[in-house]
Amino acid sequence: MATQNETFKKVISHAKEYGFVFPSSEIYDGLSAVYDYGQNGSTLKNNIKNYWWRAMVQLHENIVGIDAAIFMHPTTWKASGHVDAFNDPLIDNKDSKKRYRADVLIEDYCAKIETKIEKEVAKAAKRFGEDFDKEQFLTTNSRVLGYQQKIEGILKRMGQSLEKEDLADVKNLIEELEIACPESGSRNWTEVKQFNLMFGTKLGASADSAMDLFLRPETAQGIFVNFMNVQKTGRMKIPFGIAQIGKAFRNEIVARQFIFRMREFEQMEMQFFVPPGTQKQWYEQWKQTRLNWHLSLGMGADNYRFHDHEKLAHYADAAADIEFKFPFGFKELEGIHSRTDFDLGSHEEFSGKRLQYFDPERNENYVPYVVETSIGLDRMFLAVFSHALREETLEDGSSRTVLKLPGILAPTQIAVLPLVKKDGLPDLARNIKDKLKWDYAVNYDEKDAVGRRYRRQDALGTPFCITVDHQSLEDQTVTLRDRDTMKQERIPIAGLNSRLDQSLNIKHWLQKI
Ligand code: GAP
Repeated sequence: MATQNETFKKVISHAKEYGFVFPSSEIYDGLSAVYDYGQNGSTLKNNIKNYWWRAMVQLHENIVGIDAAIFMHPTTWKASGHVDAFNDPLIDNKDSKKRYRADVLIEDYCAKIETKIEKEVAKAAKRFGEDFDKEQFLTTNSRVLGYQQKIEGILKRMGQSLEKEDLADVKNLIEELEIACPESGSRNWTEVKQFNLMFGTKLGASADSAMDLFLRPETAQGIFVNFMNVQKTGRMKIPFGIAQIGKAFRNEIVARQFIFRMREFEQMEMQFFVPPGTQKQWYEQWKQTRLNWHLSLGMGADNYRFHDHEKLAHYADAAADIEFKFPFGFKELEGIHSRTDFDLGSHEEFSGKRLQYFDPERNENYVPYVVETSIGLDRMFLAVFSHALREETLEDGSSRTVLKLPGILAPTQIAVLPLVKKDGLPDLARNIKDKLKWDYAVNYDEKDAVGRRYRRQDALGTPFCITVDHQSLEDQTVTLRDRDTMKQERIPIAGLNSRLDQSLNIKHWLQKI
C-alpha cells in the first residue's frame, strides 16, 4: 500500500500532468506556495464555485451574493482586529534555519498520536472481524483512551497559552514534548514570536502621497462594510445572509502541502445576520447545513468530522472546523464561526456610521450578530481531487488511474468518441456532441485507439464516454461507458439525455442537501 506521502506526491503530479494545477511562473522556477489552475483545473474550480453559490444563494430566499473589491480602506483592518491580532506564533530552528508555526508543530505531534489510535482501531477490526464495534472500542480501550487524553491535554494547554499570549509556555510545551525540527532533527529552538500575516501594498503614484493598503486576508470584511447597503437596497429582513466568493491573501509562514495552504487563495464565505441571543441556534444549524452540503457530493461520511475550537479568535463566541481526511490526515476544510456583533460593532465605532437594524418584531434597534461559514475554494478543490484519484487493479491484472470526480464537478462530463476516424463516424459523433453540449460539458476525442481514449478520459475524471461505431449509423444506438464501473451499455441516441440526467444534472445533487 502507498504511504501518505507517496499518495500525496501522486496527487500533485497527476494535477500537473492532466492540466489541473501548475506551479505559478514555472518557467522562472515557480513562486513559493503560489499556483495556477490549468485548462481542467479552472473548470473544476468553477464547478465547485457554482455548486456552492447555487446551494447558498439560489436555494435560500434570504441569502444574496456580492462581489466586493480586494482593496479596502486601511481602517477596515484596524476595526476588524487584523492589524493588531492577525498573527501566527512562529519559531525558528537554529540549526536548520527553518521557520515553523509553533501551533502547527504541536498539532502535527498530536496528529502522530492520532495515527497510533487509527492503527489500534485497524488492528482490533482485524482481530474481531464482523463483531467489531468501532464506537465501543474507541470509548473503552485503555490504550486509545490514554492517547486521546494526551491529545486533549496538549491541545488544551496550547489553546490556553495562545489565548493568554503566553508564548514562553508554547515554547516550553514544544520542548517538553521533545518536538524536533522535521528538517534537521534538532531541538535547538528560538523563542516563539508573533508574525502578522497581512500583505502590504501602496495605492497612488507618488511616493509621498501613496496610501498604505493591505491585500485582504479574508473576504468577510467586504461583506461587513456593505451590510447597510445590501440590507437597505435589498430590503432584507433579519435573519438574512450575504455570500461572496473571492481572493484572499496571507503571508503564511509555512506555506506547504500544495494548494492546502497558499499565499494567494480563494474563499467562499457567507455571513448570516441574526438577532442577538439567537446566534447559538443558528450556529448549530449552519454547522449541519454545511456538513450536508459536503455529504451531498458523496465523498463518504467517514471522511468528515467536526473539530470544536478550544482557542477562539478575537471575534468569536463559538467556532468549529469541518475537517476532511486529506492524504496527509484530517485537516480543516471549512470554518463555521459565531462572530457575535464584534465586526459590525467595531466598524460602527471606527467609521462613526450606524450599522444597526430596526427589528419590527422586537420593536428595537440592534447591531446584528453574525454566524459565518467560510470555506477555502482551493482546499475544497484539493479535497475533491485527492479523494477522487485512485489506482485500480483490474480483473485482467492490468491497472488504471482513474479520477472519480463527482459527475457535476468533472471538467468534462461526457466524451464522444468515434470508433474510427472515417466512414462518417466523426460526423455522427460531432452531431451527438452538438446536441448534448447545451446541457453538459462535452468533449470530442478521436485520437488513438478507443481503449487508450477510455484510459485518458478516466484519468481526466470524465464520468461517461459515448462511443459511435458502424452499428450506430444503422440503428442510431451508441455505447455508453460508465467511468466508475467500466460497464458498457447499448442505448438509443434519442435516450441519452434522459439516461444522463440523473447523474449529471446539478438539480438532483442539490436536492440531497
Ligand atoms: N473569515 C473567516 C476566515 O477567514 P479562516 O479559518 O482563517 O476564517 C477560512 O479561513 C477558510 O479559508 C479555511 O477553512 C480554509 O479552507 C481557507 N484558508 C485559510 N487560509 C488558507 C490558505 N493559506 N490557503 C488556502 N486556504 C486557506
